[in-house]
Amino acid sequence: MLKKRVIILISGRGSNLQAIVNDSRNKNCPYQVVAVISNNPLAEGLEFAANNDIITAILNHKQFSSREAFDQELAKLIDGFQPDIIALAGFMRILTNDFVEYFKGRLINIHPSLLPNFAGLHTHQRAIEAGVSEHGATVHFVITEVDAGQIILQAKVPVLKTDTPEILGARVLEEEHRIYPQALCLLAENKIRFEN
Ligand code: GAR
Repeated sequence: MLKKRVIILISGRGSNLQAIVNDSRNKNCPYQVVAVISNNPLAEGLEFAANNDIITAILNHKQFSSREAFDQELAKLIDGFQPDIIALAGFMRILTNDFVEYFKGRLINIHPSLLPNFAGLHTHQRAIEAGVSEHGATVHFVITEVDAGQIILQAKVPVLKTDTPEILGARVLEEEHRIYPQALCLLAENKIRFEN
């Protein structure tokens, strides 16, 4: 079986990256992680990747004069690895329309809420403030509208009266680590595909 080639883009901790890499170690996993790219030279996930013999690359957005210039260079870097799938895992940058269009159908993201609820940042705090009883995580295709692409998988968790954003976030994160590898398997096995 030819494994699908996955690139993971991170900006920080990289716990989803770890979950994906751990899953990819299963003999029957239909995908392999071929590289990890970070826009943040200090991203903790880079160390995990390097310790696990995965190629890492840093493309520091601060060294580019515009969002367009950064995204063009990022696209070139990604193309060099000939990926089938590009997975954003805590990649905290808004991507240009050109970039998203270029990789459309191969570009997926994980978001810490039950989209379309709580797009954007501080999702756990906003869920608590809104008084919802359920919260969760979503893996979705990336389209030009932020956090709005077609949903691949979601997982729900309860919101408890005693929750702080940190406690709720930890409960959601556990689900993220479960559904992101699952979503990658579905894509890699051609069980789902993007349609406009
Ligand atoms: C995750 O909770 C992910 O859902 C979120 O950032 C965190 C990254 O954690 N992504 C977004 O908010 C995207 N808008 P990780 O680096 O430990 O995987």
